[in-house]
Amino acid sequence: MDIKKIKNQYFSIFYYILLLLLVGMLLFQGVKAITPSPAQQLRAILPDEEKGNPLAIPALLEDGDPDPMKVFFQLDAQPGQMEFFPGVVTETLGYNGDYLGPVLRVKKGQEVQIQVNNQLTAPTTAHWHGMDVDGENDGGPHQGIMPGESWTARFTIDQPAATLWYHPHFHLSTGAQVYHGLAGLIYIEDEASEGLNIPRDYGENDIPLVIQDRNFNSDGSFYHNMTRMGLEPGEFLLVNGTMNPYLALNRELVRLRVLNGSNYENMDLAFSDGRFFHQIASDGGFLEAPVEKDSLFLSPGERAEILVDFSQVTSDHLTLMAGGELVLDFYLSGETASAAEIPALLVAVPEIEIGENPTTRIFTLESEGINGTINGKAFDMERIDEVVPKGEAELWVIRNTDRNRIMPGHPFHLHGTQFQVVSRDGTPPPPEEGGFKDTIFVANGEEVVIKVLFHNEGLFMYHCHMLEHEEHGMMGQFMVE
Ligand code: C2O
Ligand code: CU
Ligand code: CU
Repeated sequence: MDIKKIKNQYFSIFYYILLLLLVGMLLFQGVKAITPSPAQQLRAILPDEEKGNPLAIPALLEDGDPDPMKVFFQLDAQPGQMEFFPGVVTETLGYNGDYLGPVLRVKKGQEVQIQVNNQLTAPTTAHWHGMDVDGENDGGPHQGIMPGESWTARFTIDQPAATLWYHPHFHLSTGAQVYHGLAGLIYIEDEASEGLNIPRDYGENDIPLVIQDRNFNSDGSFYHNMTRMGLEPGEFLLVNGTMNPYLALNRELVRLRVLNGSNYENMDLAFSDGRFFHQIASDGGFLEAPVEKDSLFLSPGERAEILVDFSQVTSDHLTLMAGGELVLDFYLSGETASAAEIPALLVAVPEIEIGENPTTRIFTLESEGINGTINGKAFDMERIDEVVPKGEAELWVIRNTDRNRIMPGHPFHLHGTQFQVVSRDGTPPPPEEGGFKDTIFVANGEEVVIKVLFHNEGLFMYHCHMLEHEEHGMMGQFMVE
């Protein structure tokens, strides 16, 4: 056999294989194009009715202590099941139920005890996000509750009326546990919240909205998929754990308490008719005066209370949207009326007093896909990053120095107190950031200065509230003493 012939043979085999590969790839692409994605498969199961499902309103948890100045709550972290898609079971987690948890409503000055029972097969914690509390009772990563065990938090409510929330914080399982349903709201009431002329009938005209994006596998199980790039945005939005929700309301002034309960995604909310509404509160309580706006931006962990006046809406249907996505349908009934009255002033927000030469600390946030650091350091549970004196106000400078700007920004959160925003890139913050905050969005290249003051001692966390960032390095610890 001469060399040329062998060479020729090799060539034809080579081309043959190449052709096979090409045909294979084309076939694969074709099949992929006609096979629906898990989300498409599940969407096909959803009923096509106009209205969808009535919005779930979480229960108000019953206080087990007859003393009006004392509160006793019991929370069971437990496994559950939901049918987000009819006939398809999703394994979930919840507090005292299948998904999410009850609202814990307390009053300023009350002595609170919360017993948390871990009925899961994995460790967990219960963190009171936004609560002015000491380190031991904060429920952070250091207060782990092993399966079958209980933990009791004790604290006195010593902060103004606000909408806070609770969620697990066990290191490296926070993201997954929240994604599966462990979260709930805390309402703090005080004289101001009870005295103001604003809606306060729970579930009637004072409505909690926990908004979360979620992905599912085609068998209905949650698809909490982290890649090197981050957490995949959810194809579905749940409100209070309801898929495709609607809410029937009277044509009147309504208060919505909104939590962006997503692990990783920002949301920009607006009404389908572009209507204006008033923001009356942020994370840590009421603003000094209502702020009129037509969209509401919330990064993960942030809350806002808004007043929406439906009195004059003639159409009987309206939708809350997040970008192009449907969040919640409103169906209105009752007579139209003249515009509702909105208080011109809400509360006096006391300024955090700061000394002449305050201690200034810089926190540089940097991420690379799902991984990140704060001040160049990845989280280490054995390391205390800052020691902060109790009762002394400081300036904290939060810088976002992300180089490859895949993320729009990071929601910076700190435990144990509520802070105030001094500036955003050197200019005073917008009025809706003029109240108390515990989570602040810091966009790419931005520098946000906040005033912090701690009233309680202990070990606390600061972190990016994109939970998968928090788990991938973007968290630090500080000791208040
Ligand atoms: Cu919402 Cu460290 O938590
Ligand atoms: Cu927190
Ligand atoms: Cu982040």
